[in-house]
Parts: sequence; C-alpha cells; structure tokens
Amino acid sequence: TMMNQLLGMHQVEKEISQYFGIKRCIVVAGNSDNQDKVLYEFGDILTDSLDLLLPEGRNIIAVMGGTTMAMTAEYMGSLESEKRHNLFVPARGGIGEAMTVQANSVSAVMASKTGGHHRALYVPEQLSLETYNSLLQEPSIQEVLTLIEQSNCVVHSIGRALHMAARRKMSDDEMVMLKQNNAVAESFGYFFDEEGEVVYKIPRIGLQLKDVQKIPNVVAIAGGKSKAKAIRAYMKNAPKQTWLITDEAAANEILKGV
Ligand code: G3H
Repeated sequence: TMMNQLLGMHQVEKEISQYFGIKRCIVVAGNSDNQDKVLYEFGDILTDSLDLLLPEGRNIIAVMGGTTMAMTAEYMGSLESEKRHNLFVPARGGIGEAMTVQANSVSAVMASKTGGHHRALYVPEQLSLETYNSLLQEPSIQEVLTLIEQSNCVVHSIGRALHMAARRKMSDDEMVMLKQNNAVAESFGYFFDEEGEVVYKIPRIGLQLKDVQKIPNVVAIAGGKSKAKAIRAYMKNAPKQTWLITDEAAANEILKGV
C-alpha cells in the first residue's frame, strides 16, 4: 500500500541519516539518472526544507552549480515573506562549468523562483594568476565575497570525480593524479576518495570546505544510482548539520554497502 511505501521510505531516510551521522535525509521515489520527475520533486523538497530551516530576517544562501542544482532551481517555489528576505549568491568562483549550470545562473534562477534577490560573482575562467589577483581587488568583487562569507545557508550537489573532471576539462596531469589518488567524489570543487578525504582542490575564491563546516544550514542534493558511490564518499565527512536530499535508487545502493 501507499502507506507502507511511505513508512518504508521513512525507514530508509532514518538509516541513511544515522549511517552518515547527519541531521536529516529525505528520499524521493525513483531514479534521477533517467527520471526527470525526481528532479522536479527535488525543487519542491528543497523549497520546503529551506522554508523550515531559514529563520526570519535576512538570509544569505550560497549555492553551487551543476545540472542537479540547475534543474532543482527551476522547480522551486516562493520562500519570501514580510519577515523573511533571502539573498542568493554563488558559493565559489567559476570552476569550469557551462554557463547555464554555473553557480551564478543557479543563484539567479533560485532568486527569481523564490521571490528573493541575487548577486553575481564575475570572475572569468582561465585567467592568469596576475589578472586573477588584481581582479580580486575590485570593490564589486570584494563586496560579493563579503556576502558569501556572511552566508547562513549553503546548497550544493555532489558529483562523480572523474566525470566532473572531464566535464570541466581538467588537464591530463590532473586526471592522472585524481586516478592515482582514487578520487570518487567531487563537491565545491574539492575531490574526495572513498573515505571522504580530500585528495585535490581546484583553487578558487569564495566558500572553502572548512567554511561550510561553520554554516548553520547545509543542504546537499544528489540522486541517481550512478552517484551512490560519490554520495557515500562525500557524506562520510560531511558537516553534521547537513540535510541530504536524494532519491530511492541512490539510497538503496548506498545502504547495500552497509
Ligand atoms: O559538484 C557536483 C556537481 O556540481 C554535480 O553536477 O549535478 O551535473 O551531476 P551534476
């Protein structure tokens, strides 16, 4: 029956949050590898989760990019009220993604769907270190970096290491190094091995992994059977306040190894 299914799912959610030692896990039915409806539901659930998590007053929500984040953003609903105002900012500077799935784009879409505001961080890709460093001195960039530092919420996805490295056109040397270090997961531009240890980091401005530890509200969104290994690896050392929004296919695969 439907009720049994709901209870079954609830049990899986509990097992996963206990296994990783995180605050909460929410599991959507299906497999986002091949079902778009799962991604639509991620949008609903992220909206509901942020509605519960975000306090009254002014919130700054730092968001990462990727296809999951971009699709989830499209299906979000209102989060604004007379008492609560939300500002969306990209969590980190460009890490080599296509325009539509960059953190800048995701934060703009989230702001428009939820009725909030957003600020972009304009740091072009592929700059020389010299240009990069002088760009960082720009007041408009400093301003957004300060907002990112003040964020009280972060929303991000988790990807497969080599898949992400290839998509972001990382060099052959970097690919070899990632393989040698058994990188399986990627999040925030950091690469993790199966134990959830950082093996490599793309140097970029904005939120660093150690900053995420101190942010009171953290939501990770990642699903699909193909991502189970990556999700398990990253979540092993994820901040304890994390809420994980995932799907049935990933959840079942994660629990198989327990
Ligand atoms: O850091 C993780 C990636 O942003 C995930 O990308 O949602 O396209 O799989 P994806």
